[in-house]
Amino acid sequence: MVSSGGTRERIRILVFSASLRRDSLNTKLADLAAAAIEANGGEVDVAAMRDFDAPSYDQDVQREDGFPPGAGEFRRRLEACHGFVVSSPEYNASMPGALKNSIDWASRFQPQPFNERYGLLMSASPSMGGGNRGLWALRVPLEHLGARVYPDMFSLAQAHLAFTSEGRIADEQLQQRFDTNIINFLDQVEASTHYPCVKRAWVEYLGEHPEPALDRVE
Ligand SMILES: Cc1cc2nc3c(=O)[nH]c(=O)nc-3n(C[C@H](O)[C@H](O)[C@H](O)COP(=O)(O)O)c2cc1C
Repeated sequence: MVSSGGTRERIRILVFSASLRRDSLNTKLADLAAAAIEANGGEVDVAAMRDFDAPSYDQDVQREDGFPPGAGEFRRRLEACHGFVVSSPEYNASMPGALKNSIDWASRFQPQPFNERYGLLMSASPSMGGGNRGLWALRVPLEHLGARVYPDMFSLAQAHLAFTSEGRIADEQLQQRFDTNIINFLDQVEASTHYPCVKRAWVEYLGEHPEPALDRVE
């Protein structure tokens, strides 16, 4: 088993599956991610997509009735964490509408809760592509909103055959790649959160220099 070794500064990660389905493959992968984060010194808040459920975004509804409870819950739980891990199904080479809808609602809060939050994207699918195309689509709104989306993504192909009865990935090499992806993400979140010089380097790596007048809020 791959392990980060040593101790960490406190980092808390919101983990959720973007599937509403019972027996979801993505929920299995999200559960595995939560276990790996805890095994490597992180704290987790495991959420269900249903916690963030909201009617289709409508600007009139927002103006007249305010935010639905699911949107407020998404914001609250994002803000209580340094980063998030989402395991998302691929629907028609993109993300599920429910996930995009939740992102749209949450993006209307000020301050905007994705801005400068660290994200790791995962997917599971019975297909050979593992749902990876959907993650490229998911990166776009998240990066637009200022989320620091980790470069490596994990996509589990033939996911209906991939898990052991204990919920681990049966292929040990793939399980180790999964653990390494989680550890590298946690290292980045820890360094960016607790060591400001590295945070500056990360921002510069993305080609953006900190500038209050230009910081994204919407
Ligand atoms: C509307 C819809 C569109 C889908 N499109 C894709 C797709 O583009 N690529 C893919 O790999 N799987 C696709 N699938 C299959 C899903 O990957 C599969 O149902 C998967 O199990 C969903 O994730 P879950 O198990 O976490 O619910 C699609 C499924 C649905 C219902």
